Amino acid sequence: MALDTTALNRRMTHFDDHDDLWLFGYGSLIWKADFPFLERRPARIHGWVRRFWQGSHDHRGTPEAPGRVATLIAEEGAACLGMAYRITPETLRPLDVREKNGYLRELTPLHFEDGTSAMGLTYLATADNAAFLGEAPLDDMARQIAVAGGPSGPNRDYLLHLEAALAELGVTEEHVSELARRVREHRNDATALGVQ
Ligand code: BEZ
Repeated sequence: MALDTTALNRRMTHFDDHDDLWLFGYGSLIWKADFPFLERRPARIHGWVRRFWQGSHDHRGTPEAPGRVATLIAEEGAACLGMAYRITPETLRPLDVREKNGYLRELTPLHFEDGTSAMGLTYLATADNAAFLGEAPLDDMARQIAVAGGPSGPNRDYLLHLEAALAELGVTEEHVSELARRVREHRNDATALGVQ
């Protein structure tokens, strides 16, 4: 799959003639909603887990030293908590460009806390995209996140903001909190050595 997924996403016209649609955020979209929205509500999607398996060459890393950001990995019986935004279809255009580094629009049912559900969209980076890094030992992933950074800022800030946002939503997720713990540890070690 092409590294720039903007054109592929423009072909996904499912909601183009709707007045509004639900967009599900599970990564930076939970804590960084720098786009117009009509309403936002916590929501879950079923059958997916959040994993820091996607490379970031354009936001939280560089082509030479990519960072790691979240994508969704299919897992039977799992559920992923995030934030759903009700937006107009035009709002997707700049997001397609912002998230062009391998993320494709995916249709998914969203489940809200009041028991209602709705069809929505999320951005998904699958294993066949050029920026996908996949699984690695937690320590290796944490070290990579601790040192990477790009035009959107340090990679560790992305992880630590996400950890805080999930705590605000009332969840602690082992994959995220364990990475965050190791990133803090790495930072303390580096400070003690006068490296960073
Ligand atoms: C998210 O927060 O859901 C997200 C943000 C950027 C790319 C893909 C997903």
